Amino acid sequence: MTETVPATTDDVAFPVARGCPFAEPAEYSQVREQTPISKVRLQGGTEAWWVSQYAEGRAILADRRFSSDRRRDNFPIPGADKQLRERFRRQAPSLIGMDGAEHAAERRALIGEFTVKRLAALQPRIQQIVDGFIDDLLATRQHPVDLVRTLSLPVPSLVICELLGVPYADHDFFQSRTALLISRRTPEPERARAVDELRGYLGELITRKESEPGDDLFSRQIARRREQGALDHPGLVSMAFLLLAAGHETTANMISLGVIGLLNHPEQLAALRADPRRTPMAVEELLRYFTIVETATSRVATEDVEIGGVTIPADDGVIVSGLSANWDPSVFAAPADLDIERGARHHIAFGYGPHQCLGQNLARLELQIVFDTLFRRVPTLRLAVPVDEIKLKSDAPIYGAYELPVTW
Ligand code: HEM
Repeated sequence: MTETVPATTDDVAFPVARGCPFAEPAEYSQVREQTPISKVRLQGGTEAWWVSQYAEGRAILADRRFSSDRRRDNFPIPGADKQLRERFRRQAPSLIGMDGAEHAAERRALIGEFTVKRLAALQPRIQQIVDGFIDDLLATRQHPVDLVRTLSLPVPSLVICELLGVPYADHDFFQSRTALLISRRTPEPERARAVDELRGYLGELITRKESEPGDDLFSRQIARRREQGALDHPGLVSMAFLLLAAGHETTANMISLGVIGLLNHPEQLAALRADPRRTPMAVEELLRYFTIVETATSRVATEDVEIGGVTIPADDGVIVSGLSANWDPSVFAAPADLDIERGARHHIAFGYGPHQCLGQNLARLELQIVFDTLFRRVPTLRLAVPVDEIKLKSDAPIYGAYELPVTW
């Protein structure tokens, strides 16, 4: 066992804002080359262990000695203040913040909704939704068009609304509240208000479905919990909140960045167009390359753990950087090259281990259908502004684009 604790990177706060969509922050490779695990200062001033290499990252995410419970004192939340932490302590935890048996039971209750078979049944409807928004896009006379508003956001929003049983007519409301609550720039009182409003909305929706169930995920979860004898309204609202927020913001940002990535690498786009059977691998590579959810894979050690040449003491916070792991050159050679044929499926853009993304196959399906359909039906699609003028969510917990002006 080595007891040398690598030096704190005092002058930089982690995670580091991304300057360019086609590169990881320079600090990441510097830290990764020195050591797989180091102590860093987080945005907001607290410290946590930063896991920069792939092997150690996967090992930690699969290790049940690390907790996902956001109510723990040292759970690393970059930029979090006391109020945010207190809110986490008050709220019923959702799947992503549960551990052990409680997590396994909640996950078992939901997993049936996201099986490959269930998703295959959704495919024709997702195709129809994508075609509908592309029809509208092609009918637009005023150029440039913002792809975020016309395609990237509406597709996953409508898909998740239909799956969950949320009225899509309310999309302006829940999209605006989600955007506020996931932005690091939102002042805490405003973020707390957005959370309360969204929880209030979902609470009323769940109450309505308790008496008037429909053919949707929320109604099925209510029925399931009733059969088990306990309805747990706050728990249902937390579940609804997680699925609605995770179900549209993530995929929306990945659609926008995927389009930017492919348009900026015309040889990769040409290879994709030449043979659409390459789309699933292209989607994996884009997920690796952009790793839009970088620090959701945070944990707290529940006991002393020796790993990567250090001992992480009990109660210390740990962040497995998905971006750094997915750019680890010992696993993904020349990681800065976007290469749709590299075979990137072992990336950890959806996390790894017991908390690996529940909606990953839904996200994959949406991304595959969008890229195939968009580049087939709009073959001359191009960015309407230089890449460096696109407004990117550089320091947000979910990387993406605020606006994506395109023309054709
Ligand atoms: C490109 C799109 C997406 C990305 C990159 C992504 C990424 C992630 C990551 C990294 C985690 C792991 C968190 C951890 O280790 O603690 C996660 C968990 C999760 N994701 Fe996703 N996600 C995406 C789409 C979706 C969609 C469409 C849904 C919705 C239905 C969803 C629902 C969830 C849930 C419920 C969890 C928690 C799973 C658990 O704790 O057991 N995600 N996601």
